[in-house]
Amino acid sequence: MGMSTPTNQNQASTLYKFNENVMASFSKLKKIAITSGKGGVGKTNVVVNLGIALVQMNMKVAILDADYGLGNIDILLGIEPELDISDLLKDTATLEEILINKNKLAIIPASSGVQSLTHLTEYQEILLYKELKKLEDMVELLIIDTAAGISDNVISLLLAADEVYLVVSPENTSIVDAYAVVKVVTELDAFKTFSVVVNMVEDEEEGSDVFLKISRAVKKFLNKELHYLGCIRKDDHVVEAIKFQQPVVERFPLCPATTDYLELSKTMIERVAKMETRKDKKAKLDF
Ligand SMILES: Nc1ncnc2c1ncn2[C@@H]1O[C@H](COP(=O)(O)OP(=O)(O)O)[C@@H](O)[C@H]1O
Ligand SMILES: [Mg+2]
Repeated sequence: MGMSTPTNQNQASTLYKFNENVMASFSKLKKIAITSGKGGVGKTNVVVNLGIALVQMNMKVAILDADYGLGNIDILLGIEPELDISDLLKDTATLEEILINKNKLAIIPASSGVQSLTHLTEYQEILLYKELKKLEDMVELLIIDTAAGISDNVISLLLAADEVYLVVSPENTSIVDAYAVVKVVTELDAFKTFSVVVNMVEDEEEGSDVFLKISRAVKKFLNKELHYLGCIRKDDHVVEAIKFQQPVVERFPLCPATTDYLELSKTMIERVAKMETRKDKKAKLDF
């Protein structure tokens, strides 16, 4: 494996502080971060539709909107959060006050507050810990919608998650950029588990082909195995549902994309049941 640059090492120390003190302390709560190298590949749609499909199958799920850019969970679901995670950090709101419930799916708006998550004061760490700790008794799984790319904010969330789901599309740039994410995270945490979801495919074969491309490169250059979760077909119903600010699995319960989302959630339920939380892994690794 390549040598870490000094920047990487500095980054690692601040990021691990955040992990160790806050997110990683929740041993009961399973955390999956959904990310991509390139923007616009369908992360937010994957988060929202998987979230809805999983609660339909009776799993207790919360989603955290950790992309401070535009066009995110609130827009997709037609909600307008008045409070977000920055209010927790200011101690002006509790988790219960910022949570939004949408068809049994718990949504934690973070958008504007998420940039400060990597620069917490000790007091804010305690606040965040105290509030997010409540999630452990509310849900089994937290799905985190991150921004694309390899900025500090994104990487810290990926390090804090028990598992990372990489959303890729069949475009070459998406595959190359996804590889970069795996590389950066692996340099900071060699044992991180990655699963791949290929979005906007013509058919299943294209999904497997895309997965093979990325997994071969990752195996060859990073000596790491990726797990293939499955694919979602390119489907205009997704675009149509977005216009109505409704997740496609609700708006069009029988369309190809919904069929794929339901299949994916079944696979996910089995996988989540076997998932270890980060705290268990850390103990083994002895950082
Ligand atoms: N399965 C799909 N079929 C067709 N279009 C899709 C599909 N998934 C996503 N899209 C399109 O991609 C756009 C970006 O999706 P989004 O979830 O916002 O991506 P990201 O969060 O990665 O930026 C959507 O607005 C939609 O037009
Ligand atoms: Mg998004």
